[in-house]
Amino acid sequence: MRIKLRIMEIFRSEFIILSTVLLIFFVDINLACVPPPSVECDSNSNSGCQIFNYQGIWEDLNICKAGSAVFPKKETELVHAVADAVKRGKKIKVVSSFSHSLPKLVCVGDDEGVIISTRDYDSTIHVDKIAMTISVDAGVMMRNVIDAAAEEGLALPALTYWDGVTAAGVISTGAHGSGIMGRGSAVHEYVVGLRMVVPAPATEGYAKLITITEEEEKEKFRGAILSLGVLGAISQVTFRLEPMFKRSVSFSLVDDHGLENMIQDFVRKHEFGDAWWYPAHHKVLLAKVDRVCVGVDGDGVNKMSQLGQPTTVDDAQQLGMILEMIDSTRDSELLCNLSETGMNARAPSGAGFLNHIVKGFTGYPVIGFNHLMQATGGCQDYSHKQEPNPNLCSPDRILDTNQSICSWDRRVAGLKGYDDEIYVPLSRVEEAIIDIKRIRDLNPQALCELEVVEGITMRSVKKSEAYLGHSEDVITFEFEYLRARDSETPKWNMDVYEEIQQMLVEKYGGTLHWGKSGGYLFQGTSKRAVNLKKFLQVKQEMDAGGLFSNDWTDGLLGIDGKGVEVLRDGCAMEKLCKCREDKHCAPHKGYFCRPGRIWKEARVCRQDH
Ligand SMILES: Cc1cc2nc3c(=O)[nH]c(=O)nc-3n(C[C@H](O)[C@H](O)[C@H](O)COP(=O)(O)OP(=O)(O)OC[C@H]3O[C@@H](n4cnc5c(N)ncnc54)[C@H](O)[C@@H]3O)c2cc1C
Ligand SMILES: *[C@@H]1O[C@H](CO)[C@@H](O)[C@H](O)[C@H]1NC(C)=O
Ligand SMILES: *[C@@H]1O[C@H](CO)[C@@H](O)[C@H](O)[C@H]1NC(C)=O
Repeated sequence: MRIKLRIMEIFRSEFIILSTVLLIFFVDINLACVPPPSVECDSNSNSGCQIFNYQGIWEDLNICKAGSAVFPKKETELVHAVADAVKRGKKIKVVSSFSHSLPKLVCVGDDEGVIISTRDYDSTIHVDKIAMTISVDAGVMMRNVIDAAAEEGLALPALTYWDGVTAAGVISTGAHGSGIMGRGSAVHEYVVGLRMVVPAPATEGYAKLITITEEEEKEKFRGAILSLGVLGAISQVTFRLEPMFKRSVSFSLVDDHGLENMIQDFVRKHEFGDAWWYPAHHKVLLAKVDRVCVGVDGDGVNKMSQLGQPTTVDDAQQLGMILEMIDSTRDSELLCNLSETGMNARAPSGAGFLNHIVKGFTGYPVIGFNHLMQATGGCQDYSHKQEPNPNLCSPDRILDTNQSICSWDRRVAGLKGYDDEIYVPLSRVEEAIIDIKRIRDLNPQALCELEVVEGITMRSVKKSEAYLGHSEDVITFEFEYLRARDSETPKWNMDVYEEIQQMLVEKYGGTLHWGKSGGYLFQGTSKRAVNLKKFLQVKQEMDAGGLFSNDWTDGLLGIDGKGVEVLRDGCAMEKLCKCREDKHCAPHKGYFCRPGRIWKEARVCRQDH
């Protein structure tokens, strides 16, 4: 009872935080604590390095090491770094300054290999107004790309909703916004050319710079625009632009009855439309997002709070603490109340969109220039040139908790989460939604946690020419939920989440976002990738020695029969395997391997009472 009271107390303050987060919008706070870097080496040297993603936790809970790190500033330095590693027969990987992908794509293939960081590789941003293109260095953050284009009256139609990703990183995992009109919502669809550094024989100096364009090297191009970083080091990316336009955004919360029937029409009708499903509450938040002419009035901006607005250390920790507490006491009523509050607050408050940066949200539609509406951010260091102030924060520690940070900063005990995004072919989405509803109806409250962050995010992505892209139009189902800090801690309601996800993959031909979490769900990816053989041919031509590959990417691509699933005691508790036996769950904690309740081929860890 005392615990319950304590939670109620926190809940009340949390309620305030949540409403603040959802209703009040920050003007940009001066960035105080620069995010911790993706590569940290022994002090005062570039050797003995460790590589981190933004959450500071790899899916298998192991660490990633590299023998040495290089921080090139110019192309000649990048060529030299690759050549030097090739000459020494070392494995190589390229990573962005803060590394926003969750799987082990950026871990170097062996602990003595070389990690190349693009932290300082961001000096070129060149707009060609006549050709309507923009060429940028690999490490340039996308906010700087779309702002530079906008200054010349040009727009990049598609982008991730968060703008702190880099040009090379965002295309290398097939990252996307929402939409299937025109070229669609995946950023790599807008690439027209790449400059890359790839291994070469000694006679050519161990590394060479190549230029890949759509017209001249069709095959290589289709491989290189979405390459998981396994083909070589991207030096520069050229994107195709369009004349600037505006976006018009309107949110409405509706009943989810009939969601399965309307979603296909919805994404065909609204160029950038998306939906945020709250299955436990039988609701869906629909975002009608359409293109309008620049002449239409509107100075709207996107300040969606879930997407990296600056927050304080205290707020981040409090959010993490409250959710962990609810998780450990398993109070679904409390959790469902919390998610309902958040859900109900979104549409009436503009859901993070402001008609005007000072006047705030005044009503729908919110209309604004594409680059100010398509993505947001602010907690990151766009220039990544600020030196951390040693009195406020260091790469390992934050000394002054009043500083603003990203809510996911690995130095604070904030929210650690899974972010599993599964793409389901548009043609099968109707059935898939009906099936998810059948699982939901057995215990709606089990899905409240999915609603706390933002609901199941549904976006559309168009079929792609990229060999590792989609072979047909898809709808995403994105699940964000808490990940326990300690390994093998039973995850509340994990059986329900796992059953839904296994069903989407196994029954509906779902595939996973290359840069988000998913663990064992990636198993069998190579069998589902339609153009895998062609991709592997390109890989053979560009990096025959596999220096840019590691165990994870080999497993994804099925090289030498490798997979990505890890079978060991407790593996299913950490999303490392699909359980076959009880010991893959946690029998000593009461969790046993059981079939799904609706999708019978699912095998999930369930608590038996
Ligand atoms: C808050 C947040 C919001 C997000 N929102 C979205 C979203 O709306 N839509 C979406 O699809 N995704 C989203 N993502 C996922 C994100 O887009 C991807 O994880 C993206 O790949 C991260 O890019 P990065 O620049 O951090 O690159 P990294 O994570 O550092 O690298 C990604 C991949 O690119 C490769 N790479 C990087 N640079 C080079 C180079 N120069 N040469 C060769 N290979 C290179 C790496 O080896 C790796 O394989 C989000 C992530 C976060 C944290
Ligand atoms: C949840 O909300 C209902 C209805 O508003 C309320 O009666 C109930 O006390 C709340 N429960 C908790 C645990 O907050
Ligand atoms: C943080 O802010 C509070 C309130 O303004 C202040 O009392 C406290 O000293 C600050 N902490 C630090 C470390 O500066």
